[in-house]
Amino acid sequence: MDVHCEAVLAEYEKRAGEEAEVLHSLPPAEGMSRRDEFLICVGRHTGTVLNILVARDDGVRHILEVGTAYGYSTLWLAEAARATGGRVTTLELHPGKQVYARGMLERAGLADFVDFRLGDALALIEDLAEPPDLVLIDLWKELYVPCLERLLPRLAPGAWVAADNMLDPPAHRAEAETYRAYVRHTGRFDSVLLPIGSGVELSRMRS
Ligand SMILES: C[S@@+](CC[C@H](N)C(=O)[O-])C[C@H]1O[C@@H](n2cnc3c(N)ncnc32)[C@H](O)[C@@H]1O
Repeated sequence: MDVHCEAVLAEYEKRAGEEAEVLHSLPPAEGMSRRDEFLICVGRHTGTVLNILVARDDGVRHILEVGTAYGYSTLWLAEAARATGGRVTTLELHPGKQVYARGMLERAGLADFVDFRLGDALALIEDLAEPPDLVLIDLWKELYVPCLERLLPRLAPGAWVAADNMLDPPAHRAEAETYRAYVRHTGRFDSVLLPIGSGVELSRMRS
């Protein structure tokens, strides 16, 4: 991580820390209705694991992120992609978040390693030019299963799939468990729940 990336990460984490207090003080229904205002991100532990997975596995070139938001996890993925000659494609529904993410990645010196795509991820997945070697699934939680359904025929052999928010927030635990059961039911992955950050289901497609 160079100084430019660290400076941008520090700015993200300051914002996330300040906003977490506000978000937790809101009634759940209001937090839900205002969720686009907040930088709800994977956090440093999960960012580091994703960065290591890309940087340490020679096969990871085509990286797909489903749910850019403000670009925090994009930065961790893109920093590793720059080191390995890979590229990140990141999908987001909200135009303002994408603009913000692009600006932060430019400041980190990483925008040249990212393709930002705007629209419904479930449709955008169908247009992917390359089979992803690694996917981060981190969009709204009721879409995890439809997202993996669309990815299944498109993943590269041996692809990694990391799904965030498996343990936290508790309000989404049922959707997380449905996703984890679905991954196992496919019979296509070796899969483990990592108790880092908000909980990550890390799955590797059997070759
Ligand atoms: C939890 S945030 C992603 C956080 C991000 N990965 C990070 O760590 O910084 C989830 C994002 O998914 C986006 N999203 C939700 N449904 C989507 C869809 N159908 N297509 C594309 N993006 C979607 C939301 O707008 C939101 O920005």
